[in-house]
Amino acid sequence: MEFHVPNTVSFHLSLLILVAWSSVQASHSSSLSSSAAETISRFQHYLQINTSQPTPNYYQASDFLVSQAKSSSLQSQAIEFVRGKPFVLIKWPGTNPHLPSILLYSHTDVVPSEIDKWKYDPFSAHIDDNGNIYARGSQDMKCVGMQYLEAVRRLKASGLQPLRSIYLAFSPDEEIGGQDGAAKFAESEVFKSLNIGVVLDEGMASADENYRIFYAERSARWLVIKAIGQPGHGSRLYDNSAAENMMKSLESIRRFRASQFDMIKAGLMAEGEVISVNMAYSTAGTPSPTGFVMNLQPSEAEVGFDIRVPPTADLESLERRIADEWAPASRNMTFRFLAKAPVHDEFGNPFTTKTDSSNPWWGLLQDAIQRAGGKLHEPGIFPASTDSRYFRRLGLPAFGFSPMANTPILLHDHNEFLNQEVYLKGITMYESIIKAYASYVENEGNRASTGDL
Ligand SMILES: *[C@@H]1O[C@H](CO)[C@@H](O)[C@H](O)[C@H]1NC(C)=O
Ligand SMILES: *[C@@H]1O[C@H](CO)[C@@H](O)[C@H](O)[C@H]1NC(C)=O
Ligand SMILES: [Zn+2]
Repeated sequence: MEFHVPNTVSFHLSLLILVAWSSVQASHSSSLSSSAAETISRFQHYLQINTSQPTPNYYQASDFLVSQAKSSSLQSQAIEFVRGKPFVLIKWPGTNPHLPSILLYSHTDVVPSEIDKWKYDPFSAHIDDNGNIYARGSQDMKCVGMQYLEAVRRLKASGLQPLRSIYLAFSPDEEIGGQDGAAKFAESEVFKSLNIGVVLDEGMASADENYRIFYAERSARWLVIKAIGQPGHGSRLYDNSAAENMMKSLESIRRFRASQFDMIKAGLMAEGEVISVNMAYSTAGTPSPTGFVMNLQPSEAEVGFDIRVPPTADLESLERRIADEWAPASRNMTFRFLAKAPVHDEFGNPFTTKTDSSNPWWGLLQDAIQRAGGKLHEPGIFPASTDSRYFRRLGLPAFGFSPMANTPILLHDHNEFLNQEVYLKGITMYESIIKAYASYVENEGNRASTGDL
Protein backbone atom coordinates (compact mmCIF):
# COMPACT_ATOMS: atom_id res chain seq x y z
CA MET A 1 0.00 0.00 0.00
CA GLU A 2 2.90 2.35 0.60
CA PHE A 3 3.63 2.15 -3.08
CA HIS A 4 0.27 3.76 -3.93
CA VAL A 5 -0.72 0.94 -6.22
CA PRO A 6 -4.47 0.92 -6.90
CA ASN A 7 -6.16 -1.78 -4.86
CA THR A 8 -7.21 -3.94 -7.77
CA VAL A 9 -3.72 -4.04 -9.24
CA SER A 10 -2.14 -4.91 -5.93
CA PHE A 11 -4.73 -7.64 -5.42
CA HIS A 12 -3.91 -9.25 -8.77
CA LEU A 13 -0.23 -8.87 -8.08
CA SER A 14 -0.41 -10.65 -4.77
CA LEU A 15 -2.62 -13.35 -6.29
CA LEU A 16 0.02 -13.95 -8.94
CA ILE A 17 2.76 -14.12 -6.34
CA LEU A 18 0.64 -16.47 -4.27
CA VAL A 19 0.07 -18.83 -7.22
CA ALA A 20 3.75 -18.80 -8.16
CA TRP A 21 4.77 -19.34 -4.56
CA SER A 22 2.42 -22.28 -3.93
CA SER A 23 3.59 -24.09 -7.06
CA VAL A 24 7.19 -23.75 -5.90
CA GLN A 25 6.17 -25.04 -2.49
CA ALA A 26 4.37 -28.02 -3.96
CA SER A 27 7.35 -29.20 -5.97
CA HIS A 28 9.66 -29.09 -2.95
CA SER A 29 7.41 -30.66 -0.42
CA SER A 30 5.95 -33.35 -2.65
CA SER A 31 7.54 -36.03 -0.45
CA LEU A 32 5.91 -34.61 2.69
CA SER A 33 2.42 -35.26 3.99
CA SER A 34 0.15 -32.24 3.84
CA SER A 35 0.37 -31.66 7.60
CA ALA A 36 4.18 -31.86 7.45
CA ALA A 37 4.16 -29.42 4.53
CA GLU A 38 2.08 -27.00 6.61
CA THR A 39 4.52 -27.38 9.49
CA ILE A 40 7.44 -26.58 7.18
CA SER A 41 5.66 -23.61 5.71
CA ARG A 42 5.05 -22.17 9.21
CA PHE A 43 8.79 -22.55 9.86
CA GLN A 44 9.54 -20.80 6.56
CA HIS A 45 7.22 -17.97 7.53
CA TYR A 46 9.16 -17.35 10.75
CA LEU A 47 12.48 -17.57 8.89
CA GLN A 48 11.29 -15.03 6.31
CA ILE A 49 10.86 -12.34 8.97
CA ASN A 50 14.01 -10.25 8.90
CA THR A 51 15.15 -10.19 12.52
CA SER A 52 18.74 -9.51 11.58
CA GLN A 53 20.86 -7.40 13.90
CA PRO A 54 21.42 -4.47 14.08
CA THR A 55 17.81 -3.56 13.22
CA PRO A 56 15.69 -6.65 13.78
CA ASN A 57 12.04 -6.47 12.82
CA TYR A 58 10.92 -7.55 16.29
CA TYR A 59 7.29 -6.51 15.98
CA GLN A 60 6.73 -8.62 12.89
CA ALA A 61 8.25 -11.60 14.74
CA SER A 62 6.21 -11.03 17.89
CA ASP A 63 2.97 -10.60 15.90
CA PHE A 64 3.68 -13.88 14.13
CA LEU A 65 4.48 -15.74 17.36
CA VAL A 66 1.40 -14.39 19.12
CA SER A 67 -0.72 -15.47 16.15
CA GLN A 68 0.82 -18.94 16.34
CA ALA A 69 -0.03 -19.12 20.03
CA LYS A 70 -3.62 -18.04 19.29
CA SER A 71 -4.01 -20.71 16.64
CA SER A 72 -3.15 -23.30 19.31
CA SER A 73 -5.39 -21.58 21.90
CA LEU A 74 -2.39 -20.76 24.09
CA GLN A 75 -2.16 -17.67 26.28
CA SER A 76 0.45 -15.19 25.12
CA GLN A 77 1.80 -11.73 25.79
CA ALA A 78 4.44 -9.50 24.25
CA ILE A 79 6.25 -7.75 27.09
CA GLU A 80 8.49 -4.76 26.44
CA PHE A 81 11.08 -4.87 29.20
CA VAL A 82 12.82 -2.45 26.84
CA ARG A 83 10.79 -0.29 24.46
CA GLY A 84 10.78 -1.58 20.91
CA LYS A 85 12.11 -4.99 21.92
CA PRO A 86 9.11 -7.24 22.57
CA PHE A 87 9.70 -10.39 24.58
CA VAL A 88 7.03 -12.97 23.76
CA LEU A 89 5.85 -15.23 26.55
CA ILE A 90 3.44 -18.07 25.76
CA LYS A 91 1.80 -20.18 28.45
CA TRP A 92 0.29 -23.64 28.50
CA PRO A 93 -1.05 -23.83 32.04
CA GLY A 94 -0.47 -26.92 34.12
CA THR A 95 -3.10 -28.58 36.27
CA ASN A 96 -0.93 -28.07 39.37
CA PRO A 97 0.14 -24.41 39.37
CA HIS A 98 2.20 -24.93 42.56
CA LEU A 99 4.80 -27.11 40.88
CA PRO A 100 7.86 -25.43 39.35
CA SER A 101 7.28 -24.79 35.66
CA ILE A 102 9.23 -25.59 32.48
CA LEU A 103 10.80 -22.80 30.40
CA LEU A 104 11.34 -23.46 26.70
CA TYR A 105 13.59 -20.59 25.75
CA SER A 106 14.70 -19.22 22.38
CA HIS A 107 15.83 -15.95 20.83
CA THR A 108 14.22 -14.27 17.85
CA ASP A 109 17.15 -12.23 16.54
CA VAL A 110 19.75 -13.49 14.07
CA VAL A 111 23.23 -12.34 13.10
CA PRO A 112 23.78 -10.26 9.92
CA SER A 113 24.49 -12.03 6.60
CA GLU A 114 26.83 -11.21 3.74
CA ILE A 115 24.14 -11.65 1.15
CA ASP A 116 26.48 -11.94 -1.85
CA LYS A 117 28.15 -15.00 -0.26
CA TRP A 118 24.86 -16.86 -0.06
CA LYS A 119 23.38 -19.21 -2.67
CA TYR A 120 19.88 -17.96 -1.85
CA ASP A 121 18.59 -14.86 -0.11
CA PRO A 122 19.02 -15.48 3.65
CA PHE A 123 15.40 -14.47 4.28
CA SER A 124 13.86 -16.47 1.43
CA ALA A 125 13.85 -19.79 3.37
CA HIS A 126 14.40 -21.44 0.00
CA ILE A 127 14.10 -25.24 0.01
CA ASP A 128 16.46 -27.01 -2.41
CA ASP A 129 16.02 -30.42 -4.03
CA ASN A 130 17.52 -32.15 -0.99
CA GLY A 131 14.96 -30.58 1.32
CA ASN A 132 17.52 -28.21 2.84
CA ILE A 133 15.92 -24.99 4.06
CA TYR A 134 18.31 -22.08 3.58
CA ALA A 135 17.89 -19.14 5.91
CA ARG A 136 19.68 -17.08 8.50
CA GLY A 137 18.30 -18.46 11.74
CA SER A 138 17.49 -21.91 10.34
CA GLN A 139 19.98 -23.36 12.88
CA ASP A 140 20.42 -20.41 15.26
CA MET A 141 17.75 -20.60 16.49
CA LYS A 142 14.37 -20.05 14.89
CA CYS A 143 14.22 -23.82 14.34
CA VAL A 144 14.11 -24.52 18.07
CA GLY A 145 11.57 -21.79 18.82
CA MET A 146 9.17 -23.10 16.19
CA GLN A 147 9.79 -26.72 17.19
CA TYR A 148 8.67 -25.90 20.74
CA LEU A 149 5.48 -24.37 19.33
CA GLU A 150 4.83 -27.30 16.99
CA ALA A 151 5.45 -29.87 19.72
CA VAL A 152 3.07 -28.08 22.09
CA ARG A 153 0.50 -27.78 19.30
CA ARG A 154 0.60 -31.55 18.77
CA LEU A 155 0.61 -32.50 22.43
CA LYS A 156 -2.33 -30.21 23.04
CA ALA A 157 -4.21 -31.70 20.11
CA SER A 158 -3.51 -35.19 21.46
CA GLY A 159 -5.38 -34.25 24.64
CA LEU A 160 -2.37 -34.08 26.99
CA GLN A 161 -3.01 -32.08 30.15
CA PRO A 162 0.33 -30.90 31.55
CA LEU A 163 0.75 -31.15 35.29
CA ARG A 164 3.35 -28.39 35.30
CA SER A 165 2.92 -25.16 33.41
CA ILE A 166 4.93 -24.87 30.21
CA TYR A 167 6.28 -21.45 29.17
CA LEU A 168 7.67 -20.63 25.76
CA ALA A 169 9.89 -17.55 25.71
CA PHE A 170 11.02 -15.73 22.58
CA SER A 171 13.62 -13.19 23.51
CA PRO A 172 15.25 -10.28 21.67
CA ASP A 173 18.93 -9.37 21.46
CA GLU A 174 20.70 -12.64 22.30
CA GLU A 175 23.14 -12.05 19.46
CA ILE A 176 24.28 -8.75 20.97
CA GLY A 177 24.70 -9.96 24.54
CA GLY A 178 21.16 -10.27 25.85
CA GLN A 179 21.28 -7.13 28.02
CA ASP A 180 17.85 -5.99 26.79
CA GLY A 181 16.55 -9.54 26.47
CA ALA A 182 17.41 -12.45 28.77
CA ALA A 183 19.10 -10.23 31.36
CA LYS A 184 16.01 -8.04 31.80
CA PHE A 185 13.71 -11.06 31.82
CA ALA A 186 15.78 -12.96 34.39
CA GLU A 187 15.69 -10.04 36.83
CA SER A 188 12.01 -9.22 36.30
CA GLU A 189 9.04 -9.76 38.60
CA VAL A 190 7.42 -11.64 35.71
CA PHE A 191 10.25 -14.13 35.81
CA LYS A 192 9.91 -14.66 39.58
CA SER A 193 6.19 -15.23 39.22
CA LEU A 194 6.75 -18.07 36.73
CA ASN A 195 8.50 -20.25 39.36
CA ILE A 196 10.69 -21.96 36.78
CA GLY A 197 12.24 -25.33 37.59
CA VAL A 198 14.25 -26.02 34.47
CA VAL A 199 15.25 -24.24 31.26
CA LEU A 200 15.86 -25.56 27.76
CA ASP A 201 17.84 -23.29 25.43
CA GLU A 202 19.89 -23.57 22.27
CA GLY A 203 22.69 -26.01 21.55
CA MET A 204 24.48 -26.74 18.31
CA ALA A 205 24.25 -29.03 15.30
CA SER A 206 26.14 -32.30 15.24
CA ALA A 207 27.84 -33.57 12.11
CA ASP A 208 27.21 -37.19 13.11
CA GLU A 209 24.07 -39.04 14.15
CA ASN A 210 24.36 -38.17 17.86
CA TYR A 211 22.78 -35.01 19.24
CA ARG A 212 24.86 -32.67 21.37
CA ILE A 213 23.71 -31.40 24.76
CA PHE A 214 25.40 -28.67 26.78
CA TYR A 215 25.33 -28.31 30.57
CA ALA A 216 27.60 -25.25 30.80
CA GLU A 217 29.31 -22.71 28.61
CA ARG A 218 32.59 -20.89 28.40
CA SER A 219 32.69 -17.30 29.63
CA ALA A 220 34.06 -14.44 27.60
CA ARG A 221 36.98 -12.33 28.78
CA TRP A 222 37.82 -9.53 26.39
CA LEU A 223 41.39 -8.56 27.14
CA VAL A 224 43.17 -5.43 25.97
CA ILE A 225 46.95 -5.26 26.35
CA LYS A 226 48.84 -2.02 25.89
CA ALA A 227 52.57 -1.41 25.62
CA ILE A 228 54.35 1.93 25.74
CA GLY A 229 58.01 2.68 25.10
CA GLN A 230 60.57 5.03 23.63
CA PRO A 231 59.83 5.87 19.97
CA GLY A 232 62.77 5.92 17.56
CA HIS A 233 64.10 5.69 14.04
CA GLY A 234 63.02 2.59 12.17
CA SER A 235 66.64 1.60 11.60
CA ARG A 236 67.72 1.52 15.26
CA LEU A 237 67.98 -1.54 17.45
CA TYR A 238 67.30 -0.78 21.08
CA ASP A 239 65.63 -2.56 23.99
CA ASN A 240 62.15 -2.11 25.36
CA SER A 241 60.39 -0.42 22.49
CA ALA A 242 56.60 -0.71 22.70
CA ALA A 243 56.51 -2.95 19.65
CA GLU A 244 59.31 -5.20 20.84
CA ASN A 245 57.63 -5.71 24.21
CA MET A 246 54.34 -6.41 22.46
CA MET A 247 56.04 -8.99 20.23
CA LYS A 248 57.38 -10.79 23.31
CA SER A 249 53.83 -10.94 24.61
CA LEU A 250 52.49 -12.21 21.32
CA GLU A 251 55.07 -15.01 21.32
CA SER A 252 54.00 -16.06 24.78
CA ILE A 253 50.28 -15.81 23.98
CA ARG A 254 50.76 -17.79 20.77
CA ARG A 255 52.54 -20.59 22.66
CA PHE A 256 49.71 -20.76 25.18
CA ARG A 257 47.11 -20.78 22.40
CA ALA A 258 48.94 -23.62 20.65
CA SER A 259 49.13 -25.64 23.89
CA GLN A 260 45.35 -25.40 24.23
CA PHE A 261 44.63 -26.09 20.58
CA ASP A 262 47.01 -29.10 20.61
CA MET A 263 44.81 -30.76 23.23
CA ILE A 264 41.82 -30.43 20.89
CA LYS A 265 43.84 -31.66 17.91
CA ALA A 266 45.05 -34.66 19.92
CA GLY A 267 41.46 -35.49 20.80
CA LEU A 268 42.15 -35.03 24.53
CA MET A 269 39.75 -32.14 25.00
CA ALA A 270 36.59 -30.82 23.41
CA GLU A 271 36.45 -27.27 22.14
CA GLY A 272 34.48 -26.10 25.16
CA GLU A 273 36.98 -27.58 27.63
CA VAL A 274 40.07 -25.53 26.78
CA ILE A 275 40.85 -21.81 27.08
CA SER A 276 40.72 -20.18 23.66
CA VAL A 277 42.66 -17.00 22.90
CA ASN A 278 42.17 -15.24 19.59
CA MET A 279 43.35 -11.83 18.46
CA ALA A 280 40.50 -9.46 17.75
CA TYR A 281 42.52 -6.38 16.75
CA SER A 282 45.93 -4.79 16.91
CA THR A 283 46.82 -1.13 16.61
CA ALA A 284 50.18 0.59 16.49
CA GLY A 285 52.03 2.92 14.19
CA THR A 286 51.89 6.49 12.98
CA PRO A 287 49.43 7.05 10.13
CA SER A 288 50.64 8.70 6.92
CA PRO A 289 48.60 9.78 3.86
CA THR A 290 49.46 6.46 2.17
CA GLY A 291 49.19 4.16 5.19
CA PHE A 292 51.79 4.25 7.96
CA VAL A 293 55.12 5.97 8.49
CA MET A 294 57.56 3.12 7.89
CA ASN A 295 60.81 4.46 9.33
CA LEU A 296 59.35 5.15 12.75
CA GLN A 297 59.06 2.75 15.70
CA PRO A 298 55.81 3.57 17.51
CA SER A 299 55.63 4.60 21.15
CA GLU A 300 52.40 2.68 21.76
CA ALA A 301 50.95 -0.64 20.71
CA GLU A 302 47.62 -2.15 21.69
CA VAL A 303 46.17 -5.60 21.05
CA GLY A 304 42.74 -6.99 21.85
CA PHE A 305 41.95 -10.66 22.49
CA ASP A 306 38.77 -12.68 22.76
CA ILE A 307 39.41 -15.23 25.49
CA ARG A 308 36.93 -17.95 26.44
CA VAL A 309 37.28 -19.83 29.69
CA PRO A 310 35.45 -23.00 30.68
CA PRO A 311 33.94 -23.09 34.18
CA THR A 312 36.55 -25.70 35.08
CA ALA A 313 39.52 -23.44 34.21
CA ASP A 314 42.09 -22.33 36.75
CA LEU A 315 41.35 -18.62 36.51
CA GLU A 316 43.95 -17.53 39.05
CA SER A 317 46.71 -19.10 37.05
CA LEU A 318 45.38 -17.45 33.88
CA GLU A 319 45.38 -14.02 35.55
CA ARG A 320 48.90 -14.59 36.88
CA ARG A 321 49.98 -15.53 33.39
CA ILE A 322 48.49 -12.32 32.01
CA ALA A 323 50.12 -10.15 34.67
CA ASP A 324 53.51 -11.89 34.61
CA GLU A 325 53.98 -12.94 30.98
CA TRP A 326 51.48 -11.29 28.67
CA ALA A 327 51.43 -7.76 30.05
CA PRO A 328 54.11 -7.36 32.75
CA ALA A 329 54.47 -3.91 34.31
CA SER A 330 58.23 -4.49 34.16
CA ARG A 331 57.95 -4.20 30.37
CA ASN A 332 55.85 -1.01 30.53
CA MET A 333 52.70 -2.96 29.75
CA THR A 334 49.21 -2.67 31.14
CA PHE A 335 46.04 -4.67 30.62
CA ARG A 336 42.32 -4.30 31.18
CA PHE A 337 39.19 -6.35 30.54
CA LEU A 338 36.41 -4.94 28.36
CA ALA A 339 34.23 -7.85 29.41
CA LYS A 340 34.71 -10.40 32.13
CA ALA A 341 31.71 -12.66 32.56
CA PRO A 342 31.52 -14.45 35.92
CA VAL A 343 32.31 -18.14 35.91
CA HIS A 344 31.15 -19.14 39.38
CA ASP A 345 29.04 -17.85 42.25
CA GLU A 346 30.33 -16.10 45.39
CA PHE A 347 31.08 -19.47 46.98
CA GLY A 348 33.15 -20.63 44.02
CA ASN A 349 30.53 -22.99 42.62
CA PRO A 350 30.80 -22.95 38.82
CA PHE A 351 27.68 -22.10 36.81
CA THR A 352 27.11 -25.61 35.53
CA THR A 353 24.02 -27.79 35.36
CA LYS A 354 24.42 -31.18 36.97
CA THR A 355 24.33 -34.18 34.66
CA ASP A 356 24.09 -36.89 37.30
CA SER A 357 21.39 -38.50 39.42
CA SER A 358 21.21 -35.43 41.68
CA ASN A 359 19.42 -33.60 38.86
CA PRO A 360 16.19 -35.37 37.85
CA TRP A 361 15.77 -33.09 34.80
CA TRP A 362 18.92 -34.58 33.28
CA GLY A 363 17.71 -38.18 33.49
CA LEU A 364 14.28 -37.21 32.19
CA LEU A 365 15.84 -35.37 29.25
CA GLN A 366 18.14 -38.25 28.31
CA ASP A 367 15.36 -40.82 28.55
CA ALA A 368 12.89 -38.69 26.60
CA ILE A 369 15.31 -38.18 23.72
CA GLN A 370 16.22 -41.86 23.61
CA ARG A 371 12.58 -42.89 23.75
CA ALA A 372 11.95 -40.75 20.68
CA GLY A 373 14.76 -42.51 18.83
CA GLY A 374 17.47 -39.89 19.37
CA LYS A 375 21.07 -40.70 20.27
CA LEU A 376 23.32 -38.50 22.38
CA HIS A 377 26.94 -37.52 22.74
CA GLU A 378 28.35 -37.10 26.23
CA PRO A 379 27.11 -33.71 27.49
CA GLY A 380 29.58 -30.91 26.87
CA ILE A 381 30.50 -27.28 27.53
CA PHE A 382 29.18 -24.87 24.91
CA PRO A 383 32.23 -23.11 23.42
CA ALA A 384 30.55 -19.68 23.08
CA SER A 385 27.89 -17.72 24.94
CA THR A 386 24.16 -18.33 25.11
CA ASP A 387 21.39 -16.76 27.16
CA SER A 388 21.48 -19.85 29.40
CA ARG A 389 24.11 -18.12 31.48
CA TYR A 390 21.51 -15.71 32.87
CA PHE A 391 19.49 -18.67 34.18
CA ARG A 392 22.43 -20.75 35.39
CA ARG A 393 23.64 -17.72 37.37
CA LEU A 394 20.34 -17.85 39.26
CA GLY A 395 21.08 -21.45 40.13
CA LEU A 396 18.55 -22.88 37.70
CA PRO A 397 19.34 -26.01 35.69
CA ALA A 398 19.59 -25.15 31.99
CA PHE A 399 20.38 -27.42 29.07
CA GLY A 400 21.53 -26.34 25.62
CA PHE A 401 19.93 -28.58 23.03
CA SER A 402 19.15 -28.02 19.36
CA PRO A 403 18.00 -31.31 17.83
CA MET A 404 20.09 -31.21 14.65
CA ALA A 405 21.99 -34.45 13.94
CA ASN A 406 23.77 -35.27 10.67
CA THR A 407 23.94 -31.53 10.05
CA PRO A 408 27.00 -29.34 9.40
CA ILE A 409 27.53 -26.65 12.04
CA LEU A 410 26.54 -23.48 10.19
CA LEU A 411 25.50 -21.05 12.90
CA HIS A 412 26.68 -17.55 11.94
CA ASP A 413 28.07 -19.01 8.67
CA HIS A 414 27.14 -18.32 5.05
CA ASN A 415 24.43 -20.57 3.60
CA GLU A 416 23.07 -21.62 6.99
CA PHE A 417 20.51 -24.34 6.39
CA LEU A 418 18.55 -27.09 8.10
CA ASN A 419 17.10 -30.12 6.41
CA GLN A 420 13.32 -30.34 6.64
CA GLU A 421 13.40 -33.99 7.78
CA VAL A 422 15.85 -33.08 10.56
CA TYR A 423 13.55 -30.23 11.56
CA LEU A 424 10.49 -32.51 11.66
CA LYS A 425 12.33 -35.16 13.67
CA GLY A 426 13.32 -32.45 16.16
CA ILE A 427 9.65 -31.74 16.80
CA THR A 428 9.10 -35.35 17.86
CA MET A 429 12.09 -35.00 20.24
CA TYR A 430 10.45 -32.02 21.90
CA GLU A 431 7.10 -33.79 22.07
CA SER A 432 8.79 -36.53 24.04
CA ILE A 433 10.76 -34.11 26.25
CA ILE A 434 7.86 -31.76 26.99
CA LYS A 435 5.60 -34.69 27.82
CA ALA A 436 8.17 -36.09 30.27
CA TYR A 437 8.91 -32.71 31.86
CA ALA A 438 5.29 -31.63 32.05
CA SER A 439 4.21 -34.76 33.89
CA TYR A 440 7.21 -35.15 36.19
CA VAL A 441 6.33 -35.56 39.86
CA GLU A 442 9.14 -34.79 42.26
CA ASN A 443 10.21 -37.31 44.89
CA GLU A 444 8.33 -40.10 43.18
CA GLY A 445 11.02 -42.47 44.45
CA ASN A 446 10.67 -41.21 48.03
CA ARG A 447 6.96 -41.59 47.94
CA ALA A 448 7.22 -45.14 46.67
CA SER A 449 9.57 -46.05 49.49
CA THR A 450 7.31 -44.37 52.03
CA GLY A 451 4.52 -46.50 50.64
CA ASP A 452 6.54 -49.62 51.44
CA LEU A 453 6.70 -48.79 55.11
C1 LIG B 1 17.46 -7.50 6.77
O1 LIG B 1 17.75 -6.55 7.76
C2 LIG B 1 19.10 -6.10 7.75
C3 LIG B 1 19.33 -5.24 8.97
O2 LIG B 1 18.33 -4.28 9.12
C4 LIG B 1 19.36 -5.41 6.44
O3 LIG B 1 20.70 -4.95 6.38
C5 LIG B 1 19.11 -6.38 5.30
O4 LIG B 1 19.26 -5.73 4.07
C6 LIG B 1 17.73 -6.97 5.38
N1 LIG B 1 17.62 -8.06 4.41
C7 LIG B 1 16.59 -8.18 3.60
C8 LIG B 1 16.64 -9.31 2.66
O5 LIG B 1 15.66 -7.42 3.63
C1 LIG C 1 59.04 2.49 29.80
O1 LIG C 1 58.62 3.58 29.00
C2 LIG C 1 59.36 4.75 29.26
C3 LIG C 1 58.72 5.89 28.49
O2 LIG C 1 58.58 5.60 27.15
C4 LIG C 1 60.81 4.51 28.88
O3 LIG C 1 61.59 5.65 29.16
C5 LIG C 1 61.36 3.31 29.65
O4 LIG C 1 62.65 2.98 29.20
C6 LIG C 1 60.46 2.10 29.52
N1 LIG C 1 60.92 1.08 30.42
C7 LIG C 1 60.89 -0.22 30.10
C8 LIG C 1 61.36 -1.18 31.15
O5 LIG C 1 60.52 -0.62 29.02
ZN1 LIG D 1 21.66 -18.52 19.08
